[in-house]
Amino acid sequence: MNKKLGLVGAGNIGGTLGLLAALAEYQEIALFDVKPGLAKGKALDLGQAAALHGSSSRITGSDSFAILEDCDCVVVTAGSPRLPGMSRDDLLSVNAKVMQSVGQAIAQYCPGAFVICVTNPLDAMVYLLQHASKIPDHRIVGMAGILDSARFRYFLSDYFKTGVQNIHALVLGGHGDTMVPLVRHTLVDGISLEKHVELGRLPAADLEAIIQRTRQGGGEIVALLQTGSAFIAPARSAFEMVQAHLRDEKKLLPVAAKVTVEFNVPQPMFLGVPVILGAKGVEKIIQYEFTEQEQQGLTNSAAAVASLIEDMHRLGFLSE
Ligand code: NAI
Ligand code: 2OP
Repeated sequence: MNKKLGLVGAGNIGGTLGLLAALAEYQEIALFDVKPGLAKGKALDLGQAAALHGSSSRITGSDSFAILEDCDCVVVTAGSPRLPGMSRDDLLSVNAKVMQSVGQAIAQYCPGAFVICVTNPLDAMVYLLQHASKIPDHRIVGMAGILDSARFRYFLSDYFKTGVQNIHALVLGGHGDTMVPLVRHTLVDGISLEKHVELGRLPAADLEAIIQRTRQGGGEIVALLQTGSAFIAPARSAFEMVQAHLRDEKKLLPVAAKVTVEFNVPQPMFLGVPVILGAKGVEKIIQYEFTEQEQQGLTNSAAAVASLIEDMHRLGFLSE
């Protein structure tokens, strides 16, 4: 594909995304990481993997932001994980500083790019990245809902012993405990999950357990890995968004997009909503008619995101 993809952060997710893009024959893949040598080393490794695959992608790496020049699409995974002894505010501050520098670099080197933020805490970081980069609303999004929906589908396919392709689900809201799986819109073998519950094929307690496991899907993997967080499914999820944009797929995906009054949010924020993603970026936000319970779930989620934004004001990251 005749496009340049920028990967800011050449860690686990950045490296895996680089491989997916190389296998898809993207013309240029540029990795940036603040850690000297890391992006260059990953680029070499990826280039050699691409050679084995027969891909002609040009893969480069650098610790200079100039490598992002003229990128069509940029995925930001740069940041620090929560380390032992770090408070929530400490993590917010560390990654907020990263978003400020990355946002300024995007503004300088590729202001026309479509930008996908992955760094956690996701809903706050994408907000800050937009603040620093000044990328317009329809060209900057956060990745979370695709991953959360994939987890929900995976757990349901295991429960119903059916192919995961037979499960259609959307998980909306923020990336965290308040995420909102839309049970009414989830189809298993073409039948709504609500109907499966009604017919006794899925006791309400089992559904609740699957929803809880989805909400804690990231934590479950962190506890098992002990040395980091999930990165293969997150990279594949972000790749879904990159492809939808660069191939102008106009695909319906759950995406953290900038929403205002139309979603009954207390202030403009990024929140997981159903979006049509295409060449223009967020081409449309689909307005579902939510039930009272779904709307309450989204309102709770929006309140959690608003509190993160408030924290960033308090910590001085949104002062201008
Ligand atoms: P990682 O630690 O493997 O990679 C992060 C990279 O960022 C490191 O290589 C580090 O050197 C680099 N970095 C740190 N400061 C930087 C800066 N100022 N500029 C450029 N690079 C910088 O982490 P991994 O596994 O790749 O995860 C990345 C982020 O994605 C984390 O914040 C993680 O919590 C988040 N995540 C988000 C998910 C979502 O659904 N939104 C899912 C999974 C992870
Ligand atoms: C995940 O959901 C930790 O946000 C990360 O895997």
